[in-house]
Amino acid sequence: MSLAAQCYYRVAGTRMGHRAAREGLRAARHFGALRDFHMPLDALDLPYNSTRELMRLWRRMHWSSGDGMMTPQERLAIFRLACAARAAGDLVELGAWKGLTTCYLAAACRARGHGRVFAVDTFVGTREDNTRYAAIERHGGSTLPAFREFIARGGFDDVVTACVGLTTEVAAQQRARRFALLLIDADHSYAGVRADFAAWAPLVSPGGMIVFHDYAMPDAGVRDFVRREVIGSRWVVAEPGEVLPNIFAVTRC
Ligand SMILES: C[S@@+](CC[C@H](N)C(=O)[O-])C[C@H]1O[C@@H](n2cnc3c(N)ncnc32)[C@H](O)[C@@H]1O
Repeated sequence: MSLAAQCYYRVAGTRMGHRAAREGLRAARHFGALRDFHMPLDALDLPYNSTRELMRLWRRMHWSSGDGMMTPQERLAIFRLACAARAAGDLVELGAWKGLTTCYLAAACRARGHGRVFAVDTFVGTREDNTRYAAIERHGGSTLPAFREFIARGGFDDVVTACVGLTTEVAAQQRARRFALLLIDADHSYAGVRADFAAWAPLVSPGGMIVFHDYAMPDAGVRDFVRREVIGSRWVVAEPGEVLPNIFAVTRC
């Protein structure tokens, strides 16, 4: 990571630095500068606690780290949703892969001042698409060691619980828990997303958020499922809706 990036993360992570950088950015954009340069400047319009935690995370893992399956913009959008989640409870991610997005959820818990992240994965891939998860072989057959390494590197061992198993089976073990945010990013087939929604949506607190990733993924069933069975259901209101082309979020009634 460059020295300039380190300095930026350090300065913008202080209260005064955050304010100064935000005002500077507003002025620059007012005069037409920096319009096309978003990440990581977009993080400056967050409340101070959130920016501070993001800068802390980025000091450990640069914002453009390529170890996740989301784009940096998508991770920032998930972070924003998690920071804004006002309902009672923890956060849960279905499909954690190597834990980069999990770190953003954990940073959001720190910014909120409470809650934990439950990261659910078999960590050995899925039957969904055997070729895609051939990537698992490059990790010695399991992404769990890489996941643990990421969480430790982010300093989130005390905030994250790894739940190893099929998402629907883990749901049965978590029936007594309530969640402020559910991120669905595991099996992207129509039947897979449907099963995850059926098993986990009842565990989301009223006012809590249900977030679908890979909404725009060709050949996946996410968009079809959301359009046919989620929007208009009595369980949710379709807000905030399409946060990014690939992320759709609804609020539990
Ligand atoms: C797209 S990746 C998750 C990416 C991760 N959220 C990120 O942002 O980096 C999908 C993950 O879901 C897991 N998975 C797929 N189907 C599953 C299931 N039914 N139960 C548990 N894990 C599953 C796979 O092992 C894989 O790690």
